[in-house]
Amino acid sequence: MNNSSPGETAQPDSKELLATEIAGIRFNNPVLTASGTCGYGLDMIELIDLNRLGGICTKGLSARPMPGNAPWRIVETHGGMLNAIGLQNIGARAFVEEKLPHLRSYDTRIIPNVFGYTIGEYIEAIEILESGEGIDGYELNISCPNVKAGGESFANDATQAAAVTRAVKKASTRPVIVKMSPNVTDLALIARAVEDAGADALSLINTAVGMSIDIYTRRPRLANVTGGLSGPAIKPIAIRCVYQAFRAVKIPLIGIGGVATVEDALEFMIAGAGAVQVGTANFYDPGASMKIVDGLAEFCNQQGLKTIRDLVGTVRLD
Ligand SMILES: Cc1cc2nc3c(=O)[nH]c(=O)nc-3n(C[C@H](O)[C@H](O)[C@H](O)COP(=O)(O)O)c2cc1C
Repeated sequence: MNNSSPGETAQPDSKELLATEIAGIRFNNPVLTASGTCGYGLDMIELIDLNRLGGICTKGLSARPMPGNAPWRIVETHGGMLNAIGLQNIGARAFVEEKLPHLRSYDTRIIPNVFGYTIGEYIEAIEILESGEGIDGYELNISCPNVKAGGESFANDATQAAAVTRAVKKASTRPVIVKMSPNVTDLALIARAVEDAGADALSLINTAVGMSIDIYTRRPRLANVTGGLSGPAIKPIAIRCVYQAFRAVKIPLIGIGGVATVEDALEFMIAGAGAVQVGTANFYDPGASMKIVDGLAEFCNQQGLKTIRDLVGTVRLD
């Protein structure tokens, strides 16, 4: 409700300003936490009010639990970090039974992030999650090697990316958001293939492949040799990807990559993202997502915007 006295210009309340809909999912605001940086959401409850988050993308879930890679699995870099966690997770069944009942008591959208090494494994995970009450949609991590196609990542090949999207859409009663990789030569081509295969939205980007070497041991710092670069260092790449995808497809986009401040979130939205996810910033500033929610409402008021949705894709090229 507005509390403006007579004569003052009424400002819409922040609930109206920030509410949005993506892939048929209604979000209270366009700020989500990114997969792998907030566990299964519950890890954040002592740090932030989950009711004030637009949504939570869980750590990647597979049909069965996975132990992940050997250490070292994380390396700090300038403006970011490299990780090769190896998709360690408790498995879709344990998520549904042990985490979901508590998580769904919060007023936030719950989006399990899902992966597999074959299309069949994606379907198995989805079939388990379909039995879970309170799930709002799925985010597909397609940056995984397809072991039945020579180990090339699904995300790097338009045909494979479309095939996994189509199969998951068939198996799911819920909206499917497909997460794009920046490690491709033609993002627009893959985005269009995934849209044609039925994706309800795209989220972008996943991490950029990187490597770091210890000059004294001359060994890679990560046991896995390469890892995924994330954090502010990748933001310009992510903004470029959102900008390109916005021109290539009609389905909504969720921007990810180095979002740490309200200015970052606004930049993604102007490039074409209807919402953003906060990832690496959660590790060094767990309150970042809350500050972004507050900052977005303030920006709308300052700029006289009636809804944050009016900002999406308004980058000017004239
Ligand atoms: C430690 C760590 C684990 C991650 N695990 C996953 C995962 O399980 N599934 C996934 O799709 N993305 C995963 N990501 C990628 C993030 O969700 C996000 O796309 C990426 O980090 C870029 O955003 P950021 O720069 O804000 O961190 C992970 C990232 C980090 C840093």
